[in-house]
Amino acid sequence: MDERDFRRGLGSYPTGVAVVTARSAGGRAAGVTINSFASVSLRPPLVLWSLAARAPSRPAFEAATYFAIHVLAGDQRVLAERFCSPAADKFTGVATGEGLGGAPLLENAAALFECRARHSYPGGDHVILIGEVERYAYFDRPPLVFHGGRYGALAELEQDASCGETAFDAWESFYHVGPAPAAAPKSAG
Ligand SMILES: Cc1cc2nc3c(=O)[nH]c(=O)nc-3n(C[C@H](O)[C@H](O)[C@H](O)COP(=O)(O)O)c2cc1C
Repeated sequence: MDERDFRRGLGSYPTGVAVVTARSAGGRAAGVTINSFASVSLRPPLVLWSLAARAPSRPAFEAATYFAIHVLAGDQRVLAERFCSPAADKFTGVATGEGLGGAPLLENAAALFECRARHSYPGGDHVILIGEVERYAYFDRPPLVFHGGRYGALAELEQDASCGETAFDAWESFYHVGPAPAAAPKSAG
């Protein structure tokens, strides 16, 4: 397979951009820019992201009991650029608070999910990390968007109708939190 071309194909899927932070048991702060963030489960509340198996930050994330996922706002591109390098001093000059497990918290993100590290699975040249969300917050800030290897902003959103529902309703029923069915399904015969 032509890996560059495969990556280009994957890049046609637009995503947000997040910075995941953690503090290892030894006290080292880690932070990486990712776009592999995804929701997994509502009950319990689980999210996932994947980290390159050879990432210099991997030992710190694997030794941490918590990680914090910051969904970047549109004006935080500078943070995306800061945390997508292996630099040792990524946090220098970046204002941080202290989250669960000592994870550094970045200011002014569009959303924040503080997670207890629950599972990690091998995923080819990445490891898939699953966290249980213990605290979260979200703000009315437009997100940073990544598509085709470029950063951008959301175009105007429309209320999409799918199967007579809004996209959000469909998402809710996918997670089985939508309204209960009006009647139990009848058995045949
Ligand atoms: C938009 C964007 C998305 C990225 N997504 C991921 C990702 O999901 N997983 C990953 O391991 N690296 C991802 N990277 C690359 C890491 O940010 C980069 O390799 C960084 O150096 C990792 O930190 P470390 O070197 O301290 O381990 C992404 C980079 C960018 C710019």
